[in-house]
Amino acid sequence: MALSTDSSLTPNGARSYSVDIRELSFHWRGQTSPVIDIPLLQIPPAQRVFLHGPSGSGKSTLLSLLAGVHTPQHGRIEIHQHRLNELSQSRRDRFRADYIGYIFQQFNLLPFLDLIHNVTLACEFSAKRRQYLAEHNKSARDEASRLLTRLSIAPELHHRAASQLSVGQQQRVAAARALIGAPALVIADEPTSALDADSREDFLQLLFEECAATKSTLVFVSHDSTLASMFDRSVSLLDINRAATAATRGVS
Ligand SMILES: Nc1ncnc2c1ncn2[C@@H]1O[C@H](COP(=O)(O)OP(=O)(O)OP(=O)(O)O)[C@@H](O)[C@H]1O
Ligand SMILES: [Mg+2]
Repeated sequence: MALSTDSSLTPNGARSYSVDIRELSFHWRGQTSPVIDIPLLQIPPAQRVFLHGPSGSGKSTLLSLLAGVHTPQHGRIEIHQHRLNELSQSRRDRFRADYIGYIFQQFNLLPFLDLIHNVTLACEFSAKRRQYLAEHNKSARDEASRLLTRLSIAPELHHRAASQLSVGQQQRVAAARALIGAPALVIADEPTSALDADSREDFLQLLFEECAATKSTLVFVSHDSTLASMFDRSVSLLDINRAATAATRGVS
């Protein structure tokens, strides 16, 4: 029998996914109709996915479910063979710190900490990320500095408090924090909204290069459909989320 070189196949020949969602349904507390109702979404390891849809169609909500920040009422979310629904809250938090680099729509930087510390914080919560850096003979501080510089944040800014940066700079610090320590899945929620067109493409190229170097999967949300062609795959929430389709048709 020929051996497959497909990295998304497990040793027993089954296909493995970075993200594997089945019959997923989620509604916010106090609401009866779901905002997320997705029968199937499978993303192979290392794929770069562009996720788009109108404002309010559930993009950020879906990302928060992928990261285990919220739990669905029904269905299954598997991230790198870990079923999020089956983990306790504390194990889910640890799993997120180890496996997921999350660039939040509102960045979630700590305003009073300097940039290096904001980035290395991701390693303080994750033994797996610290181990990755140790295996590659990198200190967290040096790697934070490398990533910030790669993202065009000049070294003289690295010891400034995050609150003293422009919005576009803060977005790039949030990206460095997501990438440090090579998480298996990088989730980016509108990370380029404050950047001009040239910086946006530069930023994306860097994100792609860093994700390729660590074989990380990338799920990237943006309103800017001109970016879609740079990705391996483009997914519309209107196509996969029955709740978003119903909402845009005015069906409850
Ligand atoms: N914390 C919350 N509590 C209750 N409802 C919420 C909450 N966050 C979002 N929603 C609702 O869920 C729906 C989807 O919101 P979501 O933020 O996921 O949309 P989005 O596609 O990311 O929009 P945008 O493009 O504007 O960021 C919206 O109707 C929103 O009002
Ligand atoms: Mg959003």
